[in-house]
Formats: sequence, C-alpha cells, structure tokens
Amino acid sequence: MILTQYQQDMLDGRYGKGKALAIRIQKAIGEGFRAQRMVPITRAHVALSAQEADTWFARKMRDAGATCAVSPTVNPGYCLKLFQQLGYVDDESSALMRETHQVYQALGANLTYSCTPYLFGNIPRYGEIVSFSESSATVYVNSVLGARTNRESSASALCAAITGFVPEYGMLLEENRFGTVLVQVDAQLKSEFDFALLGLNIKRIGRGVPVFTGIHPSAVTTEGLIALGAQMNVAGMVDLFHILGVTPDAPDLDRAFGGKQPERVITITQAHLDEHRAALMPHRLDHVDFVMLGCPHYTYEQICRADKYLEQNSAAVPVWILTSAATAALAQVNGISDSLEAHGARIVPDTCVDEAACWGHLAGKQGVTDSPKCAYYMRAFGVNLAVCDSETCLTWAAKGRGEF
Ligand code: F3S
Repeated sequence: MILTQYQQDMLDGRYGKGKALAIRIQKAIGEGFRAQRMVPITRAHVALSAQEADTWFARKMRDAGATCAVSPTVNPGYCLKLFQQLGYVDDESSALMRETHQVYQALGANLTYSCTPYLFGNIPRYGEIVSFSESSATVYVNSVLGARTNRESSASALCAAITGFVPEYGMLLEENRFGTVLVQVDAQLKSEFDFALLGLNIKRIGRGVPVFTGIHPSAVTTEGLIALGAQMNVAGMVDLFHILGVTPDAPDLDRAFGGKQPERVITITQAHLDEHRAALMPHRLDHVDFVMLGCPHYTYEQICRADKYLEQNSAAVPVWILTSAATAALAQVNGISDSLEAHGARIVPDTCVDEAACWGHLAGKQGVTDSPKCAYYMRAFGVNLAVCDSETCLTWAAKGRGEF
C-alpha cells in the first residue's frame, strides 16, 4: 500500500505513539484486503460496548496519547444513572461503564450512546466516505444514505477516527457497490416487522449485494429499512442492499446492477416470511414477564406509536423501550415519557440489550420483543424471548403478568 508523506510520518511516530499504532493496524488490515492506498474520512461511529475487551483497546490508545482526528459517535453502553437507581448493576460493572465513558471522552469521542447515529448527530451524506462499525448502522448508511463504509469493528473504526483515514477497499470502491442478486419480493410488507422477516431470509438470498424488487415505495418506512438491515446482519452478513425505486443507487435495474446481469434470481414469498414468523413465536405462551423494544434503538415515531397503544391498554408487565438520549429528551419534552410511565412502560436511553450487567436479572424469565436481534443477544445470558410484531408485544404486555 502506498502511503502519503503525512501517513508515513504518522506511521513513523511523528504524531505520537497512539496514532502510529492506529495506522499500523489499519495498514495491516488494508494489506490483507489488497488496498492500494488510504483515503480520508469525514465521519466515524464506534460500536463501543462497555465490555472489557473493547475498553481495553480504547484504554491502550488513550494511554499511547491518541486523540481522534474525526470525533466519532458511539454505540450504547448503558445508562449508569438509571441502572444504579434500579439497583441492577454491581460495582464492578459500574466501574467499567464509568471508565469506558472517561476513556472515550479523553479520546475525543462524541458520547451519543446510540446504535442509530444516522438519525441524530452523525448523518452521512450521499457518497461521503466514513468509517462506521455496528452492523445495523453500517448497512443503513451504505444502503439508505448512499455513503461509503466498510463493515468495521469497534477497534478498526476507532483507529480510523484517530488517524482520519481508512484503507480503500470493499464498499469504498464503486465496482463493489453494484447489485449481484435479484430478489423478487412476492409478499405483503405491512409493518417494520415484515421487513425484519424479509431480512431473516438472507440465507435463501446468499452472499452478495441484494437488489429487492416488488416492494412498493409507499410500503417503505425508515423503521422498515432499519429492521431489514439489522436482521439481515443477524442471520447473515450484508454490507449493502438496494431496493428498486427506493434506495439512492437503485433508480432502475440497469443502474442497480451496473449494466450487468444478476448472478442469481431469488423469489421470497409470503410463505417464506410466515415460516420465520411461526418459528419466532411459539403457538402458546403461558405468560409473559416483560417486553423489550428498541433493538436497534427505537425512533420517535415508534415510541409515539407504543404510547398511543398503551394509552388504550396499560401494561401489566414491565415494558422497556430502548432509544437514544436525543430521542428520549424529545419524548420527555413532549410528555410522552410521563405518559408511557403512567401506563407501565419505561424509556431507557444510552443502553444496549447486550449488557448482561443491566439485564442479567431477566435470566430465566419469559419476554417478548419485536427484534430477532434482541432475542439472539439476550439468549446468550439466559433470557428467553419470543419475537412478534410490536403491536402483539404490547398486547402481551397488557395481558401478561409481573411487576416493575
Ligand atoms: Fe443496538 Fe445493542 Fe441492539 S447496539 S442494535 S440495542 S444489540
């Protein structure tokens, strides 16, 4: 890989040990992918997790004197104030979250603590070269916004934020951004949960860049696009998708496929969606102990919708709604948080479902969620979750049992 003089000086330690280490890691990654050069970025998002390995790496960078050339937004950890107040986190976990905050602050990160930074605070424009980790965010900014990022890890995105560069390969190159698989959707997509079910069919679709046809633009919502990308990256690995007539690089088939023929043509039917729907939700649940919504973080519209539903049918079991601090603040200003609390639901800012420190108390309990990704992560620490659309989740909330 050919480096500019500035990049070579960075590698040689002229700008400190931290930047030298970061660019050394990036050079090795770039060489692994046969990148020819490194190119500047204008934005970054680091999938901070407030878990030991991640904080170890960030600490190492800080101790080597690194600061960010491009201030990244960060993924959720957890809301220390709320979970200490609830008494769910122990001292050791609290100390790790506190340290994570301090380390990233010292590195110059913008501590947004959300997995949907593209909605608030870090919105790339079309064609912008960025470095985003968090698989649901990477696919969104590539596909929906038309920005360019590879699928970064929290460590490689932090390196990019520190140096201000990324090795140029993969999704950064025009030739890799064309569709390769034509996916004809012969199914009704009525809600974002149907988009999630479509995403779970990624094994049928196989590797490559899918171009979806048969989805009417009027059926597409921001929430549906978030769900599609997030769930494709639970069941598989997709950096980029196109939807004909919807996403910016797919105004027509010729443009979406770069003038080439698709490598494969797949049809996804209603039966395929219903197969996943049935597998995620057992026919019978004796009871539900809690409801978990907001993986990825809920939008303001989703929160308002939940509020409207709960106004009519108060929850009998705890309903947790995860979102960004920005969205939580908006809900607070508009009285939605108070209304939700009055009906048994709680907005939780800054927090990920994958924080065993916060959610470990749910181990062995039976919950419902509208996110297959949530069920996947929480299963790792013993939480059972059935998965269904958000309205059914809230219906369960109204008739389940349990207490906050
Ligand atoms: Fe967000 Fe954590 Fe789910 S980062 S997408 S809430 S697993």
